[in-house]
Amino acid sequence: MNTLKIDIRHTQNWVSQGEIESYAQAFADAASKVYSKTGAGSDFLGWVNLPLEAEESIIKSIEEDVLKLKNKIEVFVVIGIGGSYLGTRAIVDALSNEFALRAGHKPQIIYAGHNLSQDYHARLLKYLGNKEYAVAVISKSGTTTEPAVAFRLLKTHLENKYGKQAAQQRIFAVTDKAKGALKGLADKEGYKSYIIPDDVGGRYSVLTPVGLLPIAMAGFNIRELLRGAADMAQWVAAEKDINKNPAALYAIVRNILYAKGKTTEILASYEPQLNYLTEWWKQLYGESEGKEHKGIFPAGVTFTSDLHSMGQYIQEGGRHLFETTLGIAVPGEPLQVPFDPENTDGLNFIAGKDLDHINKMAALGTRLAHVDGGVPNISITLERLDEYNLGQLIYFFEIACAFSGYMLGVNPFDQPGVEAYKKNMFALLGKPGYESETERLRKLMKA
Ligand code: PA5
Repeated sequence: MNTLKIDIRHTQNWVSQGEIESYAQAFADAASKVYSKTGAGSDFLGWVNLPLEAEESIIKSIEEDVLKLKNKIEVFVVIGIGGSYLGTRAIVDALSNEFALRAGHKPQIIYAGHNLSQDYHARLLKYLGNKEYAVAVISKSGTTTEPAVAFRLLKTHLENKYGKQAAQQRIFAVTDKAKGALKGLADKEGYKSYIIPDDVGGRYSVLTPVGLLPIAMAGFNIRELLRGAADMAQWVAAEKDINKNPAALYAIVRNILYAKGKTTEILASYEPQLNYLTEWWKQLYGESEGKEHKGIFPAGVTFTSDLHSMGQYIQEGGRHLFETTLGIAVPGEPLQVPFDPENTDGLNFIAGKDLDHINKMAALGTRLAHVDGGVPNISITLERLDEYNLGQLIYFFEIACAFSGYMLGVNPFDQPGVEAYKKNMFALLGKPGYESETERLRKLMKA
């Protein structure tokens, strides 16, 4: 079932139907690079068929681990950064009730290793002092500094708390099948391990055990997530009409807008639980397209909150912006504005109306205002916020990103630019092998 909807009518002052048609060949070339694995980075296209070929044995093993653990632990700590954490957080936050994290006796999901903050990690360790907990350490390379440091802290904490042997039963490693320090450690200590396929890069990995293990541990249905993604994969692969193929349309329209100077895309949602979906999307598009001094800058806002801050810039600031609005058609909970006979606040004109209706009118009013102000709008709507629809959305953004990156002329699957800070950090910390770099930085700092 294809439930995701894309609406590009509010880009028509900038993008004509003729221009969309003129990108048909560019799109066909990009799609062929994805499906025939002939483009740059083609070794990293394993995610394309992943939802269609999800291995039952892996899903079963994850479900068994969840069953074994979920009533024994209060907290599940997910250690990872970038693609090894953002997808999980996007899905878990989107599906969670922020006021009742423990509902259904599922463990609370907490994150570590996505920053190097001493205070964050010290507070986390204190919090875990009197909690029953387990840990998943997730790193494709198995060598990333932030999660490696956090894991060393948590491993020590777990071993002190439970003893070495019992601690081992509370640690899961999700990493490469052969490479990296984490793999070596997992083998040596005998941690339960899940493999990240060779041909799936970090930011495209949420539908591998990277995301599936913690999402299942949070109590959500990973089979439905995969089913949604599989339906989207089939739809996008089969639909040859670019006007009916949501991923083709999104990739084409954003490339046309970019060519016309709309160099910043703002993903706007009206649901605060989608904040991390926005963060995941920012990573996916920023890391995939921002290279060779090209690429749309991905930004994110949550409305209506940010209408009272960034709304000013979007309405009247620099005109290099376009907006992509993420909407949810059907809310999960009923809530209406009550009638007040005194009407002192003057709100009786909306009494009896769903709060969601008011939110949607705010969204429509905002879209029309921003379009009037010179900001084109693409609108993406999910039927409801559940695993199935989120699976569709995740796959939609992934495949559209691959198409879009190839249309832009970059390799959407590498991230050479993230190495620069690492090299400097290692040199500044005196890591063996970085001596000449340290010298270069000393000179730079003096200059
Ligand atoms: O998309 C990517 O490849 C990156 O964002 C990685 O996910 C991130 O750097 C973490 O890498 P790793 O999983 O190797 O620790």
